[in-house]
Amino acid sequence: MCGIVGVLGDHEVAPILVEALKRLEYRGYDSAGIATVQDGRLDRRRAVGKLANLSDVLVHDPLAGKSGIGHTRWATHGGPTVTNAHPHQAGRVAVVHNGIIENYRDLRARLSHRTFVTETDTETVAQLCEDFLDQGLGRREAATETLKHLDGAYALAFLFQGEADLIVAARKGSPLAIGHGEGEMFVGSDAIALSPMTNLITYLDEGDYAFVTRDGAQIFDAHGRLANRDARTIPAQAAQLDKGGHKHFMAKEIFEQPVVLSDCLNDYIVGDTVTFPDDVDFTDTDRMILVACGTAHYACVVAKYWFEQLAGLPCDVDIASEFRYREPPVSDRATALFVSQSGETADTLAALRHVQEKAARVVSVVNVPESSIARESDVALPIHAGVEVGVASTKAFMNQLGVLATLAILAARQRGRIDAAREAALISELRSLPGLINQALALEDKIASHTAELSEAHSVLFLGRGPMFPMALEGALKLKEISYIHAEGYASGELKHGPIALIDKSVPVIVMAPKDALFDKTVSNMQEVMARDGRVWLITDADGAAQAGDGTWATLTMPRVDPILAPLLYAVPAQLIAYHTALHKGTDVDQPRNLAKSVTVE
Ligand code: M6R
Repeated sequence: MCGIVGVLGDHEVAPILVEALKRLEYRGYDSAGIATVQDGRLDRRRAVGKLANLSDVLVHDPLAGKSGIGHTRWATHGGPTVTNAHPHQAGRVAVVHNGIIENYRDLRARLSHRTFVTETDTETVAQLCEDFLDQGLGRREAATETLKHLDGAYALAFLFQGEADLIVAARKGSPLAIGHGEGEMFVGSDAIALSPMTNLITYLDEGDYAFVTRDGAQIFDAHGRLANRDARTIPAQAAQLDKGGHKHFMAKEIFEQPVVLSDCLNDYIVGDTVTFPDDVDFTDTDRMILVACGTAHYACVVAKYWFEQLAGLPCDVDIASEFRYREPPVSDRATALFVSQSGETADTLAALRHVQEKAARVVSVVNVPESSIARESDVALPIHAGVEVGVASTKAFMNQLGVLATLAILAARQRGRIDAAREAALISELRSLPGLINQALALEDKIASHTAELSEAHSVLFLGRGPMFPMALEGALKLKEISYIHAEGYASGELKHGPIALIDKSVPVIVMAPKDALFDKTVSNMQEVMARDGRVWLITDADGAAQAGDGTWATLTMPRVDPILAPLLYAVPAQLIAYHTALHKGTDVDQPRNLAKSVTVE
């Protein structure tokens, strides 16, 4: 959730640290800080709020030094105050941390002879390390001894007074990368943070720690044995961190969808057939287990309809944070599928580890091929969405659906549920989607024209049936994430079992319903809403609008699409409704309050 950077440079590091933190700000933006060593002296600057505030502090009160660490925070323990901002310093040690130290209360009790100044779990790390220095341990030993006492998840970087050529870095449960430069070395939460400085990256493995100096990095495994970890060249991605003329990254990412979906499909479709690595084989699978969080979870719920309808494969879909503690029985013929944009979501990773030895195969669908979830899966399928900066997931969701749809077609073929002609027809529909998405994007002005009114609402409902039910959930999630308006998604048929009590003229109801086999039933549910003064915004195609467009508050006519693939197309109005409503509300679209892009804590 937080972003970490460390630099052992050959020039002043404060500006480099701040630039790197900008690329990590998606991980948290409650407060930020940096620490450097200059003439042997450890010093820090910190500020509450966005990184711009830290930059202002540094203008008035610069920080010199060629070695430093930095942090951008998503608060867990203690509110977003300057005192609680990282780096945390105790005497001769400064520490930046991503994760949660679960035994921090015990550690505080053990260190009761020391004076704590923050409410954070992280300060215990700095205090403990300083305590070991007091006991006469050297810097490296003090840091490694400290690590032995920590329970929980962490990525950590330590910087020491009197030592301008050492950062101790450690990883357990939260990713950490080491970057190799020419006479310079770097530490960062991800390769993107380090991309302008170097693209030669070594990812620490689970439990690793490293002594990083300008000469290189000595890496040790969890047992303290010297470990050989490969340095890999990671493709430069910095260019993607530009808004490309859009006001927000989210808008840019919404409009990139035709291109990224097309790239993604090209990777998994050749001619008239879908193509995956040989070890993606559903022939003997008796059950699918799909696990993820948030938007990725909704992609899994859509996929359930596809795997069941196309491939006849029973599917269990779980929220990762529930799955990991539920102890569900796992068949040894099950294929477990984990979906994650970041590939670092702590709950999803823990769920994956839970089934690793039980299921026949662990497949992941990820946007970051170097991520922990990708590396710990039997097969990792990249979605090729490119870097997604907006905290509200859009293009990653689209491409998760793209990969899941092609996977379901593969499963259907392997299990003899579809013939070559049906496969070719489905592929042709899939291939038409980027063009249809372009047409849907052209409806932006029409969509935007109703969002001023929507932004006045205190509560909004989204309805859908079949594979459009998870789209109702996703539409509601997008709206609440970035406009802060309360929104819920329901299966249309569920409305009369309770939620209809909410309906009056103040509650807009957005009905996502292409003209499919269930359309008439959805129209009945819509009528039930309108009969109670509810304001319906119907999103449908030309046939649906002709049949049911009268009497609605608004009707959006979408291009026609094969109903089974409609979720990909209808994602677009859901995203644009949320985006334009948020513009009216004046919220921080790319970095909405209380959220972070990569959720690496439980
Ligand atoms: O990186 P992941 O896909 O694993 O993240 C899962 C959720 O945290 C994420 O989808 C979240 O719900 C987004 N903010 C949704 O827009």
